[in-house]
Amino acid sequence: MTVACSPTKHSKQKDAEAEIARRVDSVLALMTLEEKALQVSQVAAWFDVKTKKTIISEDHLAKAKAGVGSFLMVSEASVARKLQEAAMQSRLKIPLIFGFDVIHGYRTTFPIPLAESCSWDTAIAYKSARVAATEAASAGINWTFAPMVDIARDARWGRIIEGAGEDPYLGALFAAARVRGFQGEDLSANNTIAACAKHFAAYGAAEGGRDYNTADISERTLREVYLPPFKAAVEAGAQTVMTSFNEIAGVPSSINKYLLTDILRKEWKFNGFVVSDWESIDEVVVHGAAKDYEESAQKAITAGVDMDMEGESYPKHLAKLVREKKVSQETLNQAVRNILRVKFKLGLFDDPFRYINEAREKETMLKAEHRALAREAAAKSIVLLKNENDLLPLSKSLKTVAVVGALAQSKRDMLGEWEMVGMPDDVVSPLEAIQATLKTATVLYAKGYELPAPAWKKRKGETKEPTEAELAALRNEALNVAKRADVVIAVVGETADLTAEAHSRADIGLPIGQEELLKELRKLGKPIVMVMTNGRPLAISWAAENLPAIVCAWHLGVEAGNAICDVLFGDVNPTGKLTVTFPRSVGQIPIYYNHKNTGRPSQPENEIDRYKSRYIDLPDSPLYPFGYGLSYTTFEYSDLKLSKKEINTNETLTATVTVKNTGKRDGVETAQLYVRDVVGTFTRPVKELKGFQKVELKAGEAKTITFKIGKEELAMLDKNFKPVVEPGEFEVYVGSDSRAPLKERFTVK
Ligand code: NOJ
Repeated sequence: MTVACSPTKHSKQKDAEAEIARRVDSVLALMTLEEKALQVSQVAAWFDVKTKKTIISEDHLAKAKAGVGSFLMVSEASVARKLQEAAMQSRLKIPLIFGFDVIHGYRTTFPIPLAESCSWDTAIAYKSARVAATEAASAGINWTFAPMVDIARDARWGRIIEGAGEDPYLGALFAAARVRGFQGEDLSANNTIAACAKHFAAYGAAEGGRDYNTADISERTLREVYLPPFKAAVEAGAQTVMTSFNEIAGVPSSINKYLLTDILRKEWKFNGFVVSDWESIDEVVVHGAAKDYEESAQKAITAGVDMDMEGESYPKHLAKLVREKKVSQETLNQAVRNILRVKFKLGLFDDPFRYINEAREKETMLKAEHRALAREAAAKSIVLLKNENDLLPLSKSLKTVAVVGALAQSKRDMLGEWEMVGMPDDVVSPLEAIQATLKTATVLYAKGYELPAPAWKKRKGETKEPTEAELAALRNEALNVAKRADVVIAVVGETADLTAEAHSRADIGLPIGQEELLKELRKLGKPIVMVMTNGRPLAISWAAENLPAIVCAWHLGVEAGNAICDVLFGDVNPTGKLTVTFPRSVGQIPIYYNHKNTGRPSQPENEIDRYKSRYIDLPDSPLYPFGYGLSYTTFEYSDLKLSKKEINTNETLTATVTVKNTGKRDGVETAQLYVRDVVGTFTRPVKELKGFQKVELKAGEAKTITFKIGKEELAMLDKNFKPVVEPGEFEVYVGSDSRAPLKERFTVK
């Protein structure tokens, strides 16, 4: 009897991988040393952020003909075509791979990633990455430098906008969702692109939140806090990883063999390729860890960096290093193999032009369904911080509304940073959307303050701050408008330019003229809704204390205005929850919910005790905690119960809790589960997020939900950094944010 057996998915995949490995080696065997050194080099085209055009020169074409491995900053199919055609004139016709920063959407700009993480909705992150990939791939791009999965505990750091906030558990979920979204089911499809988990590693731990600064952290913190999202990205199949600009413990990341080879390749079995950050191999010299670019090249390739982004180290020095036996032929071969493998998987060897299609490019951008998703993602990203006496949602039949604040009509700023090909003209501004929503009302507008000038212009001395007299005039104009209105919507916050790379801020308050405006407006005694557009937590203690309603709207992308209106006027009941702690003042930073207890924790019941870990001039708590966000309805948690009070290290228990919608509107609550390992061989955080569930509840409805608690939720890292569940006491907390007041205890035997 013959048994017909179809090969399993797994064995099919193994066969495909073996076939690719065979083809990679057959190409490698034909390559000269010089060709290999070029293959591991990436060259930047010139992307003009103003015109959104890519500019290439004869030199770029010559480099493509010579056989460089990759270009970045190419954003148009027609330009990609020219370069790929040039590559097809190289001796071996190895296709180029085009990388681009597709960070939060391509032409359809989505909320900045930090904002999107506040949705606590990984399905939205997956979908927005799919749309971004579909649009980018139609422009000839096959590789995005995203997701940025750096944990950020410091709101001063400008790049906090690019990640998923401060929590490793949530960060890991978003990292995986975004990787899957970019890469889809089939990497060789013409609407999927390779993802890149960056920046490896601990870039977000830059001292003082100053971009590019040193990160000096223990291996335990590195592994417990900063690495989990990278591991999750690798497990989700991320094809590439980018090194970071910082050093850790004296070793710049681009020459860190422990990170790049021991952890990434050996422990995690990463099978894609590693790219440096922009000139970060050359910068090893500036760090003081190599005497010249030859040495930086030697150290980087030996450590495990496969491709040099826009540097001189690899293209100029690698061939010589191999010839002189300072780098082994096999080390270089392995880097080339890693890159070629990804090119094969993308299908570039089968058809180097498969992603390049000018007609598809035209019809794919900004499709109606892409905009609809951007609006949904934006509305889900909004976090309602305060809503005294249910001022919100506003009625659509208001008679006169005053919109004040220059940001209300700044389309550019709604896009956020890393907007790349995103166009201000595509944006619906808050003012436009409010005007469109309030069909019968009089909508008055006044600027109220000047937008801060771009930081680089200030540095060059090309701009000056507005004078007090100029600001007073703008304020007066706004007050006159506000006096005539039933409600004032004050749009304040950061411009896009105050955020992102190289834009760390020492002062994270509202920019000049804005708080003064709010203070004057408040004196009018009118209801004021503060809509804040921001790329990081801002220290808004005065507003939090004195204004009745505050909406944290971040930089939301092309649909910013519509999404803000959806929330302001109640078409959407807000569900966003902070994924990063808001400090009361910049002096509280770093402040994050999953901190250690210390030997002298500050506890309210010990308030009179002087010798506690606290500041003497501020309350201990943050302004808004991690996980926090209001709804137009209210939720009550009760009856937290554990299925067992004792388990052994291999067992699982469940926690059940009842969540009730106690308000008058239907709503969705994100119920959060936190765990604390009370005593460990190594100290554990006071709480760690280990689960969350979205609970849809009609007004008055209650549901009992269940969380599983087992090995994964309870494990810590032992002295060899292997996960282990240690016997002892554990605490379980459930609630609507990280303060989670309901608490139960159990024992692991
Ligand atoms: C430098 C940034 O750090 C990195 O995130 C980005 O992908 C590259 N530049 C390329 O633009």
